[in-house]
Amino acid sequence: MGNRLKVVVTDYIEDNLDWEAEQLAKAGIDFAACQLKFKPEVEVIEKIADADIVVVNMVKMTESLLSKLPRCRLLIRHGIGYDNVDVPACTRHGIQFAYQPDYCKEDVAEHAIALIFACARKVVRSRKTLEESSARGQWDFSDIFPIYRLDGKTLGIIGVGRIGSRVLRKLRAFGFRIIGDDPYLSDERRAELGIDFVDLDTLLRESDFVTLHTPLTEETRHIINARTLGLMKPTAYLVNTSRGPMVDAEALAAAVRNKQIAGAAIDVFDQEPPPPSHPFFGLDNIILTPHLGWASEEAGWEIRQSILDDILAAAAGRPARCVVNKEVLGRP
Ligand SMILES: NC(=O)c1ccc[n+]([C@@H]2O[C@H](COP(=O)([O-])OP(=O)(O)OC[C@H]3O[C@@H](n4cnc5c(N)ncnc54)[C@H](O)[C@@H]3O)[C@@H](O)[C@H]2O)c1
Repeated sequence: MGNRLKVVVTDYIEDNLDWEAEQLAKAGIDFAACQLKFKPEVEVIEKIADADIVVVNMVKMTESLLSKLPRCRLLIRHGIGYDNVDVPACTRHGIQFAYQPDYCKEDVAEHAIALIFACARKVVRSRKTLEESSARGQWDFSDIFPIYRLDGKTLGIIGVGRIGSRVLRKLRAFGFRIIGDDPYLSDERRAELGIDFVDLDTLLRESDFVTLHTPLTEETRHIINARTLGLMKPTAYLVNTSRGPMVDAEALAAAVRNKQIAGAAIDVFDQEPPPPSHPFFGLDNIILTPHLGWASEEAGWEIRQSILDDILAAAAGRPARCVVNKEVLGRP
């Protein structure tokens, strides 16, 4: 038994991990699935101390915890962000850290597109108006108008990476003029994408729909603020499926309330869950979804398969697919 590899999952969002248990049993790998979110560190250590590979979702992987995992050589985060993992500490303790950056790119792109269409066709507001009008025995939808055709409108994509480029590819057929802002793309990549790239201010001035797809960095935090909202057209909509803090929520609420822009659709919040006093609540022209961009049955299986692939790669002595601290690779 001593030489068998052991994988421990610290916490998971699936109903069960029977599929993983079955696949790993076939490969001769021991497996244990725990639910240790919010559990004290001593309990987490007790459950994962003898693991060769740890898979984590939300449990905080701190230096203190990582220093007590003598056998661990690979830590895999189930998901894209990894602010719950102390990566430099992984490196100090010789632990390869891998994540799954691309499992839901199609889904977030579809969500952003759904929100663009919902804004344009006023889908959410229409239902409210229908119910209110029917309650009065009327067929009166005057408060929904104006509705503008999408064909021929300008779509501005901020951050044309994995997800942004998929929004672009999927929306080409709808007759949009598409422009992008992404200072970090190579000239080759820009040419491949085949759209005009402009600076942020120009994009905001010219777009009828602005969709955000950059990572959250010091540069992108509050990239949408009172000044940049002031550049947008009064008929324009803002869609955010990236990260909440990229938008100054107070400034956006004020811009929508004052009809400086037509509205917004928001999937991500500076604080999740947002407090009941959040400035977006109660504003009809801001469509809200609860951080669901990633969600689909297909994405759920994609991430399970790619984590299994990482585990099997490690068992065969190969690195995981997306290693963050590459400097650990090749160490004895
Ligand atoms: N809503 C959800 O459920 C969900 C799920 C997955 C990812 N996300 C978020 O989606 C966003 C995009 O993810 P991705 O996988 O496409 O990332 P990516 O790294 O593939 O692409 C991001 C792009 O943004 C560009 N960029 C960086 N800084 C910029 C700046 N200041 N201005 C303009 N462009 C800039 C980069 O050059 C890159 O091309 C991230 O914020 C991610 O956290 C949300």
